[in-house]
Amino acid sequence: MGRISARGIGISGSHPEGNRPERLTNPHVQQKHVAMKFRPLTFSRRSDEEMRARAESLYEDLRTRRSVREFSADPIPLDVVRRCIASACSAPSGANKQPWTFVLVTDPEIKAKIKEAAEKEERDFYERRASEEWLRDLDPFGTGPSKPFLTTAPALIVVFAQRTGPADDGDEPARHYYVTESVGIAVGFLLTALHHAGFATLTHTPSPMRFLASLLGRPKNERAYMLIPVGFPASDCAVPNISKKTLEDVLVEY
Ligand SMILES: Cc1cc2nc3c(=O)[nH]c(=O)nc-3n(C[C@H](O)[C@H](O)[C@H](O)COP(=O)(O)O)c2cc1C
Repeated sequence: MGRISARGIGISGSHPEGNRPERLTNPHVQQKHVAMKFRPLTFSRRSDEEMRARAESLYEDLRTRRSVREFSADPIPLDVVRRCIASACSAPSGANKQPWTFVLVTDPEIKAKIKEAAEKEERDFYERRASEEWLRDLDPFGTGPSKPFLTTAPALIVVFAQRTGPADDGDEPARHYYVTESVGIAVGFLLTALHHAGFATLTHTPSPMRFLASLLGRPKNERAYMLIPVGFPASDCAVPNISKKTLEDVLVEY
């Protein structure tokens, strides 16, 4: 990434996100450039105590998130879902290209079509394409080709990754960078926001997901990335009895 110095905008090393910015030498141009391109950061410096309390509170909330596969058909406040999608859009992305589209599906007919197509792919996956090892790894979750949650959940968010910008006026489409990483982070923000607001979710990846782009009429530059049912859990919802690695298992410090 570019390095900001008192002398303007410099560059160090390679610049994986795109063209190198021009090195600026004229101080007048420099000042205008900086004035146009930068604005003061909004940042609240908190006390250590407050930071500890906030980190603890988020941890306690996030550790209760579970993937839910049994949903209630109760309606949900869609304005809250839209706000959570807005939170996802605040995610960082390669060169700020924001290479994502969120399709919110509540129409029962479209949900039924998605369910039908997903179950067709999943049947093929479970009966033919999945390896023995993969099926063994999925065993604790009790998953199979049947996906009733795709119609029971009141909303589905289908996340699309934009491989490039739109290519609608005959020009070369704009390049997008680190698309998979960027969309993954946005989905992480989305799942966090939805859980924090009080929704149950599932990160669902029917394999392959190509049917979603054609069913939802998405342009050629978009590929389906994740299908997220959103709602409340069924009253008798149960989840697999699994555990997470401990911090000691995954944290290495030097
Ligand atoms: C990238 C990704 C793809 C997943 N795909 C599916 C899926 O297609 N179907 C499903 O039932 N669960 C799917 N899951 C959910 C995982 O099985 C689940 O996150 C994992 O078992 C841990 O459980 P937890 O989410 O309750 O903590 C997926 C999760 C991730 C991160």
